[in-house]
Amino acid sequence: MPVSPEPVSRGVTSTPELRGLIDPELPRITASLKRWQIDIPTDLPRFGWGGALVIRLAREYGRAPSRSAIRIGIAAVELWNQRVHPGAPHQEELFQADVRAFRQLWDAFSGRESPRAQALHEVLFPKNWGSNPIPEMILFLRGIVATAIVAGEIPSDLHRPLFRWATAGGLRLEASIGRLEATDTPAAWALDATLEPFPSLEQCLSALPAARIAEQLSELAASPLTFDDQRIFRRWEPKRTPPPALREVRRGTDFENLWFEPIEQAMAAWTAGGPAPFLRATQYLQHQGGKRVRPLLVLAAAAATGVPPEGALPAAAALEWIHQASLLLDDIVDEAKIRRGHPTLHHATSQAFAAGTALFVLERIFLQRDRLSTGERKRLSDAALALAEGQRSELAHTGDHQMSVAQYYRVIEAKTARLFSCAALLGADASPAAHRDLAKFGREAGLSFQVVDDILDYSGDERTLGKRPGTDLRARKITLPLLLLRDRMTVPEREQLADWLGSDDPRALEQVRLQLARYAVIDDCLSRARTHQQRALDAISRWPENPGVHVLRQLAVRFVERRQ
Ligand code: IPE
Ligand code: IPE
Ligand code: MG
Ligand code: MG
Ligand code: MG
Repeated sequence: MPVSPEPVSRGVTSTPELRGLIDPELPRITASLKRWQIDIPTDLPRFGWGGALVIRLAREYGRAPSRSAIRIGIAAVELWNQRVHPGAPHQEELFQADVRAFRQLWDAFSGRESPRAQALHEVLFPKNWGSNPIPEMILFLRGIVATAIVAGEIPSDLHRPLFRWATAGGLRLEASIGRLEATDTPAAWALDATLEPFPSLEQCLSALPAARIAEQLSELAASPLTFDDQRIFRRWEPKRTPPPALREVRRGTDFENLWFEPIEQAMAAWTAGGPAPFLRATQYLQHQGGKRVRPLLVLAAAAATGVPPEGALPAAAALEWIHQASLLLDDIVDEAKIRRGHPTLHHATSQAFAAGTALFVLERIFLQRDRLSTGERKRLSDAALALAEGQRSELAHTGDHQMSVAQYYRVIEAKTARLFSCAALLGADASPAAHRDLAKFGREAGLSFQVVDDILDYSGDERTLGKRPGTDLRARKITLPLLLLRDRMTVPEREQLADWLGSDDPRALEQVRLQLARYAVIDDCLSRARTHQQRALDAISRWPENPGVHVLRQLAVRFVERRQ
């Protein structure tokens, strides 16, 4: 993680006034993030700006600025800032920050929560966001104010003047970078929408009680701002929201056909009530399709242990949303354009919006976590953390020619198998021995699932697979087929292989396919997948037969025999 030793405030810091306001706080912010174990690359544009204002506002207007609350506030604002402003050259960092956000949320989710952190949710996802997109600088300043209010316990009579300052200040910033006219009316976005005419920034500032920060903000208001970085700005909203694709009629097993609709409904129940663009996005994801193997596993394992599957539906659907959120981020990192036969969400809209949607679904679950039992929360949160860690370590091995098969297995165990064993245990009511069997079943089935996914990335065909083959090769992801191939190749052939890795040329994929066939690598990968499948089946082979056990077996077989 690139953390610059000397924090520098970049981006919108071209005035000495602003720099004077922020720079003294930067070491403190960096230290806070470190203590809170949040790794945000501190050399990202505009790093520290939001956090500095949170500290200053909370300290000067707050009643009881507690240090840990301010730390949560800074972390939230800084994480959120990066999500609203994805700098084009920082894709990898953005992703890593997202993984951290994931971790942060799920840490809180599993118990380290506070009323203040919960209140932040309201700030970061304002209710009227969807229907009337708020220009990002206004939103950002408003987020800072709200965070400072929560973190510093700022008295309520100051809330309105501070929010007005945020609206007018945000408008000024938007105008100074040419995205909005200074004469644009902020009424449509203002919290006090009826206020006409909306007070000027100077008026808003003079309404604030005297404090050093107000003085500094007045100076700031007098100086024109420019951005000194070359960022590509995008609103955090879809360019267009594609119409939901028609789901093909399912031809699954009886169990699937029985539970298909309840799973969809349980998924929709988690996201209901969110802002309209995010709802359209989650609907888009639901209509896009997907096999729903994880929730099916939850329900089948519940049935296998004699528990009525209905009770496990909320947890099963939450698990599927975690999977979906991880795929939204995964498709950004893997630069995948097609999923389930339809454009990936970031390709159809923007990376910022897709990352926001991932955060949105996690927030919905976080907010409604009372619908899950303590045990379910813990399992989900552990699996989500493993997933984040698996994705991170896979990223760290991108293009790593020295990667070993053991390292590959560690990656797929974390990024995929852990979610599968979580699924197998989530709804089950099992004795310790049965618990061990199910954990093993899930783990081995998950390993087989990912090995087959990695095979299909070479051998699959786009129409059936619904994804574009060759994504791993293009994204320089070293998966099992490539590892086994590398180990069998001669030295000159290996050098040639290194050239194909990362290539956009379709001929590179063709060549790798030929070599895979020549060295019979795909068959070996498949036989490894079958070994995992067999271990999964063995784990439950002594279980008395019942419909749930039957479905578990069917699923394990399908994970390997699939083409999709
Ligand atoms: C894709 O998962 C990610 C992997 C772990 C390989 P799925 O193949 O379950 O994706 P959908 O949800 O069915 O599209
Ligand atoms: C699985 O790996 C991703 C996650 C576990 C999030 P891949 O990157 O291979 O998954 P696909 O092929 O995009 O579905
Ligand atoms: Mg991928
Ligand atoms: Mg991936
Ligand atoms: Mg894949």
